[in-house]
Amino acid sequence: MPKHFLHLSDYNSEELWEILHLAKEIKTKFCNRENYKPFEGRSLSMIFAKPSARTRVSFETGFEWMGGHALFLGPNDIGIGKREAIKDISRVFSRYNDIIMARLFDHKHIIELAEHSEIPVINGLTDYNHPCQILADILTIWEHRGNLEGLKVTYLGDGNNIVNSWLQLGIRLPLHFVCCSPEGYEPDAKTIKRLEDSGVSSFELSQEPYSAVKNSDVIYTDVWASMGQKEEAEEREKVFANYQVNQKLVKQTGKETLFMHCLPAERGREVTNRVMEANYSIVFDQAENRMHAQNAIMVYLSKLTN
Ligand code: CP
Ligand code: NVA
Repeated sequence: MPKHFLHLSDYNSEELWEILHLAKEIKTKFCNRENYKPFEGRSLSMIFAKPSARTRVSFETGFEWMGGHALFLGPNDIGIGKREAIKDISRVFSRYNDIIMARLFDHKHIIELAEHSEIPVINGLTDYNHPCQILADILTIWEHRGNLEGLKVTYLGDGNNIVNSWLQLGIRLPLHFVCCSPEGYEPDAKTIKRLEDSGVSSFELSQEPYSAVKNSDVIYTDVWASMGQKEEAEEREKVFANYQVNQKLVKQTGKETLFMHCLPAERGREVTNRVMEANYSIVFDQAENRMHAQNAIMVYLSKLTN
């Protein structure tokens, strides 16, 4: 069976560090425009049931730079789970391709895709989690701080797929993670329990943005209404109004803090324009590192498979 990349917690800390070091190496090669072609003659199918800018462009650019061919399959192309059973797509693509990357709604569907696939499947976001994003984020924090020791990350807003992946990272790498969300919008309870049981990281739930951010090394936020929830946007805007990341809130940390957002951002809602443009905002470094982290994931998985 090939190894897949579905949850950060599927990897132990040594494996995660190996991928992070590989990402740095491959990033240097990319920045120097070195000739690095581990995927010559190989192909990647990218299945998107939801929209994307970063995930599509970073996977396609990265894989093609490494010598391979990436195929984009949009929401109207293959009708995964509608026109055809998910497990049939797994088996058909296993005969053509070397890697599958998929962005789907239901998390069960990516599990099913992986279960029946003979080639590695990479999770490009589901309603439940977004592991490629958080791997790129921790790479970015490591680059900025030089280490991950004593790291406190405070997330403000919806306890969504981004947060669940932060929790899954915390199961393997030690950090202090605070999720500050309105009642009823907390992250997945089972994932919180797994993090707490792991004893690796400390976790706090809060509803008080000003006290939650105290002493934070990183303030992180995401849209209040994720893809598939846009009809709730108006209602959510009221519920989340006090959770906006603005200059006043950032100052409450009492120390130099980095601001992060997975993007796309809705400026003026979850974050102000001023914070997005501040010198402590590293949102574009994060976006850049999507590609380098994913290149490392693909190289790592293909080494295990070959
Ligand atoms: N952060 C992220 O996954 O962006 P896209 O939705 O544009 O791919
Ligand atoms: N929570 C957001 C993340 C986008 C990258 C969403 O699922 O829409």
